[in-house]
Amino acid sequence: MERIMVIGAGQMGSGIAQVCAQAGYEVTLNDLKAEFVERGLGVIKKNLSRQVDKGKMTAEELDKVLGRITASNDLQDAKSVDLVIEAAVENMDIKTKIFAQLDEIAPEHTILASNTSSLPITEIAAATNRPEKVIGMHFMNPVPVMKLVEIIRGLATADEVYQTIEDITEKIGKVPVEVNDFPGFVANRILMPMINEAIYTLYEGVASKEDIDSVMKLGMNHPMGPLTLADFIGLDTCLYIMETLYEGFGDPKYRPCPLLRKYVKAGWLGKKSGRGFYVYE
Ligand code: CAA
Repeated sequence: MERIMVIGAGQMGSGIAQVCAQAGYEVTLNDLKAEFVERGLGVIKKNLSRQVDKGKMTAEELDKVLGRITASNDLQDAKSVDLVIEAAVENMDIKTKIFAQLDEIAPEHTILASNTSSLPITEIAAATNRPEKVIGMHFMNPVPVMKLVEIIRGLATADEVYQTIEDITEKIGKVPVEVNDFPGFVANRILMPMINEAIYTLYEGVASKEDIDSVMKLGMNHPMGPLTLADFIGLDTCLYIMETLYEGFGDPKYRPCPLLRKYVKAGWLGKKSGRGFYVYE
């Protein structure tokens, strides 16, 4: 395993490309348009420059890491990689289309991983002729900081593929946790209902948004309150994951809060859109 392709140069994809390049892998960062990749590379450069400023990395090391990342706008570049980590939008149609194409393009030995936060790996794998080589690698945001990677076994994922991905996860300085393929896996099955409940608490007028966040920060030692965290993740992503849990389990305990739906309909998507539960300048 030497060459890794990351598909999607957004918040997650650029973070994944950064940690892989820092661990010494040759990385191809792919997105639909050159400007998306440029933006992702800009974020990586800014993160690494902060490390240099803090004396945690030399300027030479920064250049070396950046030199390991190649920009790409063509899925055909998957021809020369050993692992693909897909971090495109959370949409099953888009993901299955990408995986079907990758299956045609990538060499036989190439492992196809998805950074999906809640979609079934087994269904994504079924879009390919190599379901044994399809696996979930769920990173947490912000990727350069958070230690966890949930590794999700699809129904057909081969043991040696799991082992390879576990080894790579450790090599990039993360801690792997093995998870079976059920809606929301572990992280979002527990995190999202908590966030949804915080939104219900606001919706029902139990407390103000600031006070709800204070309770969880000061009372439970969470680094961010749940409403701030929801803004940070993206309210559209939170809603999408709640819908996936609701549909996947058929249990009303996962119904998304109407206030969450309303905010998403208004385009108040959190930090990325400038407004969610809070306003961002
Ligand atoms: N990218 C890269 N590095 C970042 C960063 C970012 N976006 N944000 C912060 N950092 C780095 C800082 O540079 C700093 O690094 P050093 O220790 O090397 O100096 C370090 O993180 C701490 O940052 P700060 O002191 O500025 O701020 P903080 O102490 O408040 O930490 C935080 C920021 C790490 C984001 C913290 O608030 C936190 O842990 N928040 C909760 C994050 C969380 O729950 N993530 C999971 C989201 S759910 C998910 O991702 C799964 C899903 O599918 C939805």
